[in-house]
Amino acid sequence: MTTPFPRELVRALPKAELHVHLEGTVDAPTLLALAERHDVTPPAVTEAGVDEWYKFDGFPMFLERYFVVRDLLQDPEDFEYIAEQYMATAHAQGTVHVEFHVSASGHILEGGKAWAPIHDGIVAGCQRAAATHGMTWGLIPDISPHLPAVDCARAFDEVFAHNLDHVLAIGMGGPADRWATDRYQDIYAKARSLGIPGVSHAGEHGGADEVRFAVEEFQAVRIQHGIGTMHDPSVVELLVDRGIPCDVCPGSNLALHAVANAEAHPLSAMLDAGITVTLSTDDPPMFQTSLLDEYERAWNWCSLDMAGMEALAQNSLDARLIKP
Ligand code: ADE
Ligand code: ZN
Repeated sequence: MTTPFPRELVRALPKAELHVHLEGTVDAPTLLALAERHDVTPPAVTEAGVDEWYKFDGFPMFLERYFVVRDLLQDPEDFEYIAEQYMATAHAQGTVHVEFHVSASGHILEGGKAWAPIHDGIVAGCQRAAATHGMTWGLIPDISPHLPAVDCARAFDEVFAHNLDHVLAIGMGGPADRWATDRYQDIYAKARSLGIPGVSHAGEHGGADEVRFAVEEFQAVRIQHGIGTMHDPSVVELLVDRGIPCDVCPGSNLALHAVANAEAHPLSAMLDAGITVTLSTDDPPMFQTSLLDEYERAWNWCSLDMAGMEALAQNSLDARLIKP
């Protein structure tokens, strides 16, 4: 039997959350309010109904619904509101630093929106929350790789032409099917030429080959998920040797059936192998989770003690991409 999770002690540890999608922070009340505000029929009419709609049989079903939520965000005020709201939620979990992934190419290419007002709305919300709660934060505009690289590159030209003061990295979400046959590398190269590093989802539903591709081709300095890494010792070695952290979200992996159950999750093996692991929520209300819930999963699944909790919290602070 593991000892009960010391929630209040873990809350008190300063922590960073490095893998959370801004669009995925829209909870049921906010979703209903956005639908009413924009005169759109919501996917369910009650909060309980939305929470039920936030249950998925796998990644494709999740992505379909994630895009519905994404497209409910229309005005700068919507982005400002959810950014400020999630910063407050994070503060209540003992989080001192948040890095928001934002589906930039999706908003621009599929939502037909301009980047500047979205960006400025998010910045306004983050700045207000940061002043209230004494937190730091930054943005990771994401490529949506179900869209052609040439279009994503055009969208990112718009991102790169706007204020980059708060852009800590660019990222890659979604399915990896087109990575090998399209040229997303060029967008990462352009970012690096502007002094902006890259991070990437990899090895979430796919294997270690995705993680290797993200490190070698995108030059990712952090991997989101990376749970497929353990299938190939040479990729484990690559991450360990280069000190590339994996931002793991155990609750997301369960909710999207990336693993069958807790016993099948490689978190413990990743820690034992010496991979730098940080914990995050990914899309917290969509997966009925919080950052402390994720630390609780690590506590139970890996039989950790308080020193293990402190190490995970410290990893998250060390892996921050803070502007000099
Ligand atoms: N975008 C939002 N959540 C995601 C996830 N779990 N994997 C990839 N892209 C995402
Ligand atoms: Zn993610």
